[in-house]
Amino acid sequence: MSAPLFLALPGNQSMAERLAALAGGDVGALESRDFPDGETYLCLPADLAGRSVVLVSTLAHPNGKFLPLVFAADAARELGASRIGLVAPYLCYMRQDARFKPGEAVTSRHFASLISHHFDWLVTLDPHLHRYKSLDEIYSIPTRAAHAAPALAKWIRDHVQDPFLIGPDEESAQWVSGVARAAGADYCVLKKQRLGDRDVRVAPEGLKPLGARTPVLVDDIISSGKTAQQAIKAIAPFSHRPPVVLAVHGVFSDGADTALERAGAQLVTTNTVVHPSNRIDIAEFLAPPARELANPGKELTT
Ligand code: R5P
Repeated sequence: MSAPLFLALPGNQSMAERLAALAGGDVGALESRDFPDGETYLCLPADLAGRSVVLVSTLAHPNGKFLPLVFAADAARELGASRIGLVAPYLCYMRQDARFKPGEAVTSRHFASLISHHFDWLVTLDPHLHRYKSLDEIYSIPTRAAHAAPALAKWIRDHVQDPFLIGPDEESAQWVSGVARAAGADYCVLKKQRLGDRDVRVAPEGLKPLGARTPVLVDDIISSGKTAQQAIKAIAPFSHRPPVVLAVHGVFSDGADTALERAGAQLVTTNTVVHPSNRIDIAEFLAPPARELANPGKELTT
């Protein structure tokens, strides 16, 4: 059996190379460009017959990435790939996990169904699981969700003196409690009310004066950045130290990174989405499940 072949969608080359090195795979070239009318041209390695192919694409701001991704998957299948997997370090369309008002599309389910149709397996990191307990509730293909908590905790241990961890809302409790445990730090969870996509209120419930401790705000995703901004405001009366804002996925829409830095925050993210704030490499968590699913039940000869 040959080693799996990792192919990077645009912007994912360095992650694909890291994964291939860690998983004992090869890296192939996927050529992609836009025609003048905005349609996508793709060219994959021609010799895919019998190969296990792993497409690597993070899925922040996903709409423009989706068609090229499924074209690549379908082309790989036509070219004879025996198995086609997706490593999406950041998995999109996880937040609309219920129909909150009649007529709404539950896009998490629709997206899962589309990916399950085009791919044989999926590996991601810390997907936003809130009302779903696991990806298996919506994905019909084998999935693995790796976790960044040990790496976040290590970063805190190595870089923050006397940290106090803060989750901005109840949904973050699952991340912040695990990271706090592993970092040996105390934590609390604030109370958030979401009034709109870019309108949130955060109350400093449970927060006491932090003294010399450094506030470390921990969340899974920063999107508009409004949650983190409001949390920073809520923390300010309790701390005279600049906060660290630590997120697994730094999506940073609407210039959220600039706004947070202006508010005095030190931004730290993992490299699931490429950004200057990336300080934590998570490839080591994605490579083992990718290796397992790319070659189920087989020992690789690499
Ligand atoms: C809550 O649902 C998530 O854990 C994040 O707090 C949220 O996605 C952040 O979104 P934004 O940056 O747009 O406030």
